[in-house]
This record gives sequence, structure tokens and C-alpha cells, in this order.
Amino acid sequence: SLNIDNANTGQNIPSTMHGAILETNINRDDDGGLYAELIYNRAFQEKGGSLDGWSSFGQGSIALNTSQPLSSALPVHLRYSLIENSTSPSGFRNGGFYGINIQVQNYTASFFYRSLGEAYVAGGQLSIGFSNSTGQMTYGLSTINVSIIPADNWFHFSFTIPVFNNTSSVKNVFFVEFPPGSKGDFEFNLVSCFPPTYKDRVNGARRDIAQAFADLKPGYVRLPGGNDLEGHTILERFIWNNTIDLLENRPGRRGTWTGYNTEGFGLIELLTFVEDIGAIPVLAVYAGYSLDGKAVPQDELQPYINEVINELDFLTASASNNSMGALRERLGRSEPFDIKYVEIGNEDFFAASSYSYRWPAFYNVLSQRYPNITFIATTTKSISSPPAVDDHDYQVPLFFIQNFRRYENIPRPSPKVLVGEFSVINDDDSQINNPFGAGRLDYPSIKSAVAESVYRIGFERNSDVIIGGCYAPVLQNIFNTQWTPNLIVFNDSSVVKSTSYLAQKMFGQNLGNIILNSTATNSSFTHQSVEKGQEGDGKLGNLYFVATKRTNDSMLILKLVNADQNDIYIRVQVQGTTLCCEGFMEILTAGPGVDPTTVQNTMVNPNAASIVRRPFWSVGGAFSITIPSWSIMVVTLPI
Ligand code: AHR
Repeated sequence: SLNIDNANTGQNIPSTMHGAILETNINRDDDGGLYAELIYNRAFQEKGGSLDGWSSFGQGSIALNTSQPLSSALPVHLRYSLIENSTSPSGFRNGGFYGINIQVQNYTASFFYRSLGEAYVAGGQLSIGFSNSTGQMTYGLSTINVSIIPADNWFHFSFTIPVFNNTSSVKNVFFVEFPPGSKGDFEFNLVSCFPPTYKDRVNGARRDIAQAFADLKPGYVRLPGGNDLEGHTILERFIWNNTIDLLENRPGRRGTWTGYNTEGFGLIELLTFVEDIGAIPVLAVYAGYSLDGKAVPQDELQPYINEVINELDFLTASASNNSMGALRERLGRSEPFDIKYVEIGNEDFFAASSYSYRWPAFYNVLSQRYPNITFIATTTKSISSPPAVDDHDYQVPLFFIQNFRRYENIPRPSPKVLVGEFSVINDDDSQINNPFGAGRLDYPSIKSAVAESVYRIGFERNSDVIIGGCYAPVLQNIFNTQWTPNLIVFNDSSVVKSTSYLAQKMFGQNLGNIILNSTATNSSFTHQSVEKGQEGDGKLGNLYFVATKRTNDSMLILKLVNADQNDIYIRVQVQGTTLCCEGFMEILTAGPGVDPTTVQNTMVNPNAASIVRRPFWSVGGAFSITIPSWSIMVVTLPI
């Protein structure tokens, strides 16, 4: 039986307990993913400056041009040339990142445009819209009058494209069309088109992906990396102030994982998204080390420290008495952002010898200046006693199950711990010493989700030291993948929620704020014999549990994970409540007798596993439950 003591409470559980990571660029998760921009290579930056994704139709041709650029950040533009008066509708197209999925709704499009010299558009009107890839079917259309614009000057057009025809195809194109009779050279840059976005933000997020992310109810979001913080080289690091200005002033950079990173979804967009989903950020700042293995020498660090000071002032300082705060206000955000956690670097166990001077150089200055921020180190290999440290583990199920008591066993007092990245990447337990080797998963399985949930129970039980933990990475574009498995997988039109996603969602959506004392006993030992860290404390055989309470509505939230091949029956008694009431249990499992490694939610089979919700009745705080083999269960009950 499982005894839970309503009157005997333990540590508080922070609201950050179950988080998420939003590492830009990995798996095309922002450009071509969460960032709702539909136009691929909108400023011709891909592949070192190219027309990748663009093609012409009818008469005329497209080429790259660099004379009198739109801005120093966007030095290359498209030139469309009609040498002779055209005799048919002509222009150019963009096929989106991996196609364009359109719905009957309004789209917001824009571009910078200029005509050169004597060039003219017959009738003065350009047509812009969506069609199928051959242009035979038009699904949406808008016209703009360009005759009013003096030649040779860039002009920004912004307009709406209503889509009036449905299509089930996602392989549509965006087009710009010149009427017959047009002639000359015309230039375009920053050609952009957005569907309605999450919370209707300008320059915002794709609704379905954003909603899936939000439904995890993450307490925190760690951003912008991961490796993308560091960049390939020091010059290609995340430079925060390159990501905040008008889009035409954002140069972007070579993607750390893939393609070009436009940084259209920049620092302000990222942090606004985090606010919009009700989380707080764990902001990672560059700490002088990049992926080519080069570290900034000790005597050259000051400019990089200043860069972080400017970033934190920009985000947190008052707009009235700080120039960085004033810049934030000029860019449209007067209120400071709520920054409670800042991580200095990423995975500096790869560069521990230089972290020994980089960490103190950053930390000593920053902790003085921002006393209300908790600074997180990325390793303790070469530094001592940071306030907090970020642990990363990519492993097999057995590792997470065996390490259930890992955070119980670390000596107190201890630095706080953020488990900033963890996941089962390989279901084969025999690969525990080489999890990145043979058997790497494409998608999480039920077994993966069970093992991760055991580990998460360990987080909640140790919330005196654990700030929170998150599966990593979260987002994967199925057409451009560098890392598997991931929590959420998407293409142009659909979003797959993996088994690990469903498990994390169950934990994120059901978070108590206080631990209740609980012990499990069986016939071989009694309640009194259960001591901290012993069998019965958080674990009985292959059953793992944590009892918590959400005090604002007096709700028991009991999490149970069965990592056994057999169902487990248990009688629960909540001491200190006489209520008789209806409770609910949510269950995620493979199903009776099914091998839990074989059940994965995939693009082809997105609903192989789903959360089942069932009511039950408790009398005076007593009830019985069967926790299915290889399952995750969350019980909620008024107490
Ligand atoms: O999450 C994927 C990568 O794993 C992160 O970028 C990095 O921090 C870790 O090595």
C-alpha cells in the first residue's frame, strides 16, 4: 500500500520544475519551423548568397545583385530583368522551406522593391499571391500599385493576401507577377509572408507548433542554445544585438546546425514567445568558447563580458535611466523582461581548462551587477561552488532508471541543478556505455518516456536542489533533421507529439507546489521501517512515485511510473483527509503485453500512443489503482 500524509509536507516545488529548450537552428526548428515566415531564403543569404528556392516564370530572368544594397546587413538582393516588353504574365516564385501550406485566411506579405532607371510596370500594378507549383491554379491574390514609387529608391510594401481557394496540397508557391507589357530591371529584398501567428504577434510563431510547445506548460524555456549559442566560431556566436533590430538590419549568421540562421526570430521574439506561453526564460549567454574549440584568451575577455552586460541591461534595465533599457523601449518593449536565471556558456566540460578562467571572469562581474539573477555554470569540472550547474544526459532507459536517486545522493549543501538537456536517445540498455552508437532512436518510445519520467520523479523529490529539467531537443522539422529523437516533430501541415512529449505534458500540466510525505510498503516490511533513500521511499520494486499537493485548490497530484513488465496493483491511503470525491487518473502506456520499445508516435503513425483519462472514486482518501506495465500515471484528487 501507499500511504500519503496530507498533514506532513516536505519541500516546495518550484514552478520551473518541468521546462523546455528552444535551441535556435537545430533541426530547422525556428526558420522553417516555429518562426512562421513562409518564404525560404527571403534575403538571399542561403549558401553564402544564392537564389536557392527562387525561380522565374514566363519571360524575364532572376539574378543576384549587390549594388546599392538595402542595408549593410542584407547586402544581396534579387534583380528581375525583362529585356523586352513582356507579352505574357511573368515574374518569379518561391516554394517555401519545404512547400507552402495555405489555408483560406489572410496572409501578411511584404518586401522591399525598387525599379531601376526607365523600367516600368504596365498598368503600374504587381500581382502577388499563391498558386500551385506550375502557376495554373491561383489560391490567393493581391495587387499593389508600384507606379507611385520614384525609380532607384527602395520602398517597403506591406499588404494582405487573402486566400480564397482551398487546396490540400502543401507544395504551393508564392509568386510576384508582372503584367504583359512590362520592361526593365526591378529589385527585391526581404520578401516575406506570414500566416496568422500565435497570439497574433507580428513576426511571430507558427500557431500549431507554438500551441504544442505551450501545451507542455513548461515552467521555463532555456534559450537560445545549446550549441547554437556558441556558433562554429567566435565570430559566428549568438550576438544578441544582431537579433533585435528591424529585420532589414539583422545580418543573421551561418547556422550552427543547418542552412542560414536569419535570426528573424531574435532575442525579443524568443522572450516574448516564452512570456506568451506563461514560462520564464533561462537565458544562456555567450561565455567565450565556440565549437571550433577556440576559447577567448583571458586577457581578451572584457569585450565579451561587456557584451553580456549590455544584453542583460537591455533586457532588465529601466528604460528611463539606462541607455540599453531605452533601446529596448525604442524597439517597442518598454517593460523589462523577467530574467531570473542566466546560464554562462554551454557544455563547457568540453573546454574545462579555459572555463576555469572564463567562469570567474563572467560570474564575478555579473553577480555583482545583477544580484537578483541566479547564474548557472555549465560544469563543475574546473570551477568550485557555482550557485547552480547545468547537467546534460543523453542515455539509455536503464541509465535514467538506475539514476533515480542521483540527486538525492548528492551531498547537501549543493549547487542548485538545472537538468538543461536530457533524453533517452537509444532504447537498447546494453548501449549504456555508448548511447550515441548503434540503435540511436528516430522517435521516443513508451520505454523512453517511462525512463525519463522515473528521472523526472527524482527531480520533483529533490526540489530543494533541482531548479528544473527538460528533454532536449524539443523541435524537429522532418525535412531537415540533424538530431533525433525529439519531443515534437513537424512538417508543413502537421505536428506529431511523441510519447516523451505526452509524458512531459502530463508532468508539466500537473504540477504540485509542495511535496507530501509518502511511503510504500508491502508484506515484507512495514510503514515504520521505510527510511529516506530506502525501498518504499519514492520507489517500491519497479514502481516509482512522488506525492505532491497543489495547495491553491487543495489537490493531490500523485505521479506513478511502472517500469516493470507486470501491472502493479496498489492501495492508496491519504492520511488527514476524510473527503469522498471523484478523482482522475491519466495514463500513458503501450497496452497490455506490448513491447514498450515498439510503440512510438511517428509521422506515419502519430497516435500510436495517447493519454487515457479515467475517473475514479475515493472514500475518505482511500482508493485502489492498477498501474499498467511500462506506464506513466498521474492521479489528481481533491484532498
Ligand atoms: O540538444 C542538442 C545538443 O546537445 C545541444 O546543442 C548541445 O548543448 C548538446 O550537446
